Amino acid sequence: MNSESARDALIDQLHEQLVEIEQRLIPTGLHVFGRSSELSEKADLLRMVTSFDRPECGARALPKLIAEGLGIDGYDEMVQLGARGETRELIDQTVKDAIQVFCEGGPLAAGKFLKSAANVEVEASQPAFELIANVSEHLDANHELQSLMRALRGEYIEPGPGTDIVQNPLVLPTGRNTHAVNPYSVPSQAAFLRARTAAEALLQRYRDEHGRYPRALAMVLWGLDNIKTQGEGVAQALWLLGVRPVRDALNRATDVEVIPMAELNRPRIDVVMTVSGIFRDLFAPTMTLLDKAVRTVAQLDEPFEMNYVRRNVQEKIDSHGASIDEAVTRVFSNAPGNYGTNVNFMVMQSAWEDEAALGDLFVTRKCFAYTRDSQGRTVEGREAPELMSDVLSRVEATYQNIDSFEVGITDVDHYFEYLGGISKAVETRTRSRPSIYLSDSLSPQTKIRSLEETVRLETRTKTLNPKWYEGMLKHGFRGVAEIENHVTNTFGWSATADAVDPWIYTEISKTFLLDEEMLQRLIELNPYSVESLAKRLLEAHERGYWNPDEEILESLRETLSKVLNHKTTAKV
Ligand code: BEZ
Ligand code: MG
Repeated sequence: MNSESARDALIDQLHEQLVEIEQRLIPTGLHVFGRSSELSEKADLLRMVTSFDRPECGARALPKLIAEGLGIDGYDEMVQLGARGETRELIDQTVKDAIQVFCEGGPLAAGKFLKSAANVEVEASQPAFELIANVSEHLDANHELQSLMRALRGEYIEPGPGTDIVQNPLVLPTGRNTHAVNPYSVPSQAAFLRARTAAEALLQRYRDEHGRYPRALAMVLWGLDNIKTQGEGVAQALWLLGVRPVRDALNRATDVEVIPMAELNRPRIDVVMTVSGIFRDLFAPTMTLLDKAVRTVAQLDEPFEMNYVRRNVQEKIDSHGASIDEAVTRVFSNAPGNYGTNVNFMVMQSAWEDEAALGDLFVTRKCFAYTRDSQGRTVEGREAPELMSDVLSRVEATYQNIDSFEVGITDVDHYFEYLGGISKAVETRTRSRPSIYLSDSLSPQTKIRSLEETVRLETRTKTLNPKWYEGMLKHGFRGVAEIENHVTNTFGWSATADAVDPWIYTEISKTFLLDEEMLQRLIELNPYSVESLAKRLLEAHERGYWNPDEEILESLRETLSKVLNHKTTAKV
């Protein structure tokens, strides 16, 4: 490539990244219990709701209608490929404008706007606008406080589905009991179909980087996520193994059927599944299904190079003298009645010296095998640290499916305690850091990102984004605590996975602590969180995650004494 086309390619890439950041749905503040959101906050959400086909209410995605109206061919392919450019931008901007008109003038005005701007027949766009009119109305009517009072009086609270608004607008109104799914229905047919794209994209990404398939992959499965998606994560695991769920006479997914090699057209990947305590409690039959899937695949008469499960199981039997039941164990969780990895607490309290301790704690907490014994009896939570260490020692990639617009990997400490924890456990057992991936299965094109890319995206769209942090600061004391949480959660990705670019810590320092005016605002609102923030940044330096100029370090130390001083004089 000559230098000019190399430069153009770079600019294209940069442009793509900027658009990606611009298009993220950015939460602008915390939800206040009992208070409905304002119109301006709703616009982004409504736009996302109209980005998907909603066959259940006869609504088609607005971007598709606009593409058709403008005579643009191949919109679906454009989205699948993640292609950008003027055409895509024109479509996206027209959607934004239409939502603006909708917010000001309602469904009909928005329909007429689309007719004139993009030649979309009013009847064609009305179902989408009627849908968001309904969503908007429900967002305004907030029954949370009344429902809480009724619940405290022991009254019946109607249930509603547990998912997010974009995936299923029927979650509204809020203030209802969340109902889960029937575990036997998981994965649903739709989830299984959707999961194929993510599973194949994950393998493609690994192949692009390594030139071959991963021999074994460790996956994190959460309960609430699998409720929301009716088992998308579970379905991804089944695809990786190369099996599909089979339903019995009562329509329960209780068995699996092998996808023939000729159809699968790639090796079956060995999958280690660490499931949360919530998943274990909610999805016992699903754990049995996953265990069955591994056993079935391990026993297929297929060559080792096309069936990594069989190869790894055979190796375990040959080299360790393991029984078949031990060798096929792949589903792990906490001890019965226990939850969480505690890796987050260890990080937050700086209670570790060596990073390996974080991975070891993960294994100590999550090494309980959920499987069958030689008589076919269910084993619920047998402590098996060696077995887990052994399966992790074959893992080359770790992965978690992200399926919510609402919660990202730096919003809560649970992502780093799970995906970070398991990645560190793999790293110490293989002496090599696994490739770490997350999917974004909710955007119209399923996208696989590396952990580093995801940390950058989250940092740009949230932690360093004035739209996000000013939204937080409106909440005063709590808002500053949220900013500090984000920084600690980001730090968690350094500690467990070495996945944070040094510039991130520099920019965080500059934005919140080295800017005199901002620092003053933060100290007034919440000196405790400012203290933790400065300490965390200094800790990041001490642990070798970031090596800024002495000037920056000096300013951080000064900030710390300033805030300590403020606390003494203000006696807060
Ligand atoms: C879960 O849904 O399984 C889960 C929720 C929060 C933290 C960890 C796991
Ligand atoms: Mg390191």
